[in-house]
Amino acid sequence: MSKFCSVGKERDENGEIIVCEESRAKLLPILQNMQQEKGYISDEDMQSVADELGIHPVEVYSVVTFYSFLSVEKKGEHIIRISNCISNIMAGSKEILKQFERILNIKVGETTSDGKFTLEETACIGMCDMAPAVMVDDKLIGNVTPRMVKKIIKEHS
Ligand code: FES
Repeated sequence: MSKFCSVGKERDENGEIIVCEESRAKLLPILQNMQQEKGYISDEDMQSVADELGIHPVEVYSVVTFYSFLSVEKKGEHIIRISNCISNIMAGSKEILKQFERILNIKVGETTSDGKFTLEETACIGMCDMAPAVMVDDKLIGNVTPRMVKKIIKEHS
């Protein structure tokens, strides 16, 4: 059962670290900053965040692997995400994905050899109404056609 403390790391009478809800609230912003600065979050980073906040490293790992915008691997300078929800698939997202794979010469989940682009499929980018849709970094592009793919890549090269 969790015990609570108001600030920082504290230990109970047995020397066990008390779980701080305030520490948990800080976890996601810290991880977002790390992701932004380094492009990924290493095992060592996760351990040091866990130590700093007084929480178990598994808790940090579970947050990093839950959110698609956090990564345990170094990704490209630009991340291209294509939704694979049913609306997007029905609207042709698989063809868009294949076109990105052809032009970038990588498969989904990979990064180009120059480190410029990572191509990913994701469950939802909130763009069912403009499917097929693509997200490049934090920019949403709707009603994408295969002919638009080259231009999208060029704009980010
Ligand atoms: S469910 Fe289709 S983009 Fe979110």
